[in-house]
Amino acid sequence: MNFELLATDPGSKARAGKITTDHGTIETPIFMPVGTVGSVKGVHQRELKEEINPDVILGNTYHLYLRPQTEILKKAGGLHKFINWDRNILTDSGGYQVYSLSERRKIKEEGVKFKSHIDGSYHTFTPENVMEIQRTIGADIIMAFDECTPYPCDYRYAKRSMHMTHRWLDRCITHLEKTPFAYDYSQAFFPIVQGSTYKDLRQQSAEYIASVGAEGNAIGGLSVGEPAEEMYAMTEVVTAILPEDKPRYLMGVGTPVNILENIALGIDMFDCVMPTRNARNGMLFTAHGTINIKNKKWEDDFSAIDDMAITWVDTEYSKAYLKHLFSVNEMLGKQIATIHNLGFYLWLVREARKHILAGDFYTWKNKMVAQMDKRL
Ligand code: GUN
Repeated sequence: MNFELLATDPGSKARAGKITTDHGTIETPIFMPVGTVGSVKGVHQRELKEEINPDVILGNTYHLYLRPQTEILKKAGGLHKFINWDRNILTDSGGYQVYSLSERRKIKEEGVKFKSHIDGSYHTFTPENVMEIQRTIGADIIMAFDECTPYPCDYRYAKRSMHMTHRWLDRCITHLEKTPFAYDYSQAFFPIVQGSTYKDLRQQSAEYIASVGAEGNAIGGLSVGEPAEEMYAMTEVVTAILPEDKPRYLMGVGTPVNILENIALGIDMFDCVMPTRNARNGMLFTAHGTINIKNKKWEDDFSAIDDMAITWVDTEYSKAYLKHLFSVNEMLGKQIATIHNLGFYLWLVREARKHILAGDFYTWKNKMVAQMDKRL
């Protein structure tokens, strides 16, 4: 993997760059649509590729390991072939899902024993087997196995957990060095900074993560319920330490405003279920604010969903029709809203990139943040 830093915004720490892997280029800043179980929920490949057009999507080790299971992915020749996606894929390690989804979990130095949320069966994730699974899934970028601490988290727990995440990182690296790529392309490995909302822990963790010299670095344990100001404060502490010549990925973030504010602090990559999950609940993100399409006020508004027309659904359908589809629980409503939201998120990061390259990101960002914070 190669990362080229193309420009830095004069008014902030925002960066525009380009990641190159064996599955093509990723222009940064980027938002990665979440395709948890090997599908970006409700979106056909054609719309994903042609309308939303992301350079990279995300998959989850936890889900793919449970279903369809690693063996099937191996037989398919990896996740790219299984889902017929020839661009980039990044897989999260399960270090978050195992805490947020499994019914029960026991965290020990060796790893995490957990009970599947699907059938109640017991499994163990260790840094070693998670690297092995991610080799077989075959994503272009794979993540370290970590513990994502909850919010709030007491200092002693956060410190102990951070040190364990660092020891797990060493084990991930040792194991990867012994494990060849499963397919005929390479995989980059990103370690994850933890340390909850404690500045000194975040500094220590960022220094440790930077010291391993990985191809890119991630920040985890944020957007877990803390106020946005605390998230930004932690991002700022960490980006001051992580190397400038490597991409920086803020995991699980966030709202359109969170994304722009974190781009301004030097983040290059984002993922979040928000545009897809909220779409299925009738929430639309636009450049002028958010719309709850289930609201009665839209029932006789026959104007286009979004006159910015970022994707074809925006002008193909009216707000009144989309409200109707949600009222009668037609799956088409969820599909339209999902395409709209992902189209908007990708538009937002592409615009951010243009403004960074033009040198006026900071002014544009402040205008957008004020606009997007409204409820329509
Ligand atoms: N997704 C969102 N936050 C996290 C985190 O802290 N760790 C991992 N592995 N994934 C995440």
